[in-house]
Amino acid sequence: MSETAISPNIVPEHAENGDTWTRRIFLAAAGVAGIGYAAALAYPVYRYLASPSEMALSAAAVTEATLKDAQKLPKGAVLMFKFGPSPAMLIHHTDNSWVALTAVCTHLGCTVQYEPEADRIHCACHGGVYNPYTGANVSGPPPKPLKLFKVAVNDTGVEVSRT
Ligand code: FES
Repeated sequence: MSETAISPNIVPEHAENGDTWTRRIFLAAAGVAGIGYAAALAYPVYRYLASPSEMALSAAAVTEATLKDAQKLPKGAVLMFKFGPSPAMLIHHTDNSWVALTAVCTHLGCTVQYEPEADRIHCACHGGVYNPYTGANVSGPPPKPLKLFKVAVNDTGVEVSRT
């Protein structure tokens, strides 16, 4: 056996360093991928669990909305729209009055619906009922009225703003 021959049990130093670096790069890449994957999973959970007060702050940041062509809404009809991050509704009543309210139930936050045939706003989650003109909580578990918005109808649309 010559002096330069390499025994199969002896790994040359440079080969060990290469393996170590490959392993480190692989572990670093796996770590970065794992962090990205965890963040992708955590964000929807965070949004789902975001506190109602945080959502309210976000909603309060928006003070007005322009509903283009909403002046054409027929009497007795409702237009659902987003006021910031929250659902809201614009009702054109049969007496030609206009009402805009938040569509978030004050009980547990379900989205409420206008029912023109019953002349009420109803929450299907637990049977809450609101007055469609004032937003007052009429029956069921809702503890507070729906928030009313200010409405201005013009030739191009309807402007809704916080009062
Ligand atoms: S969430 Fe609307 S009545 Fe309970």
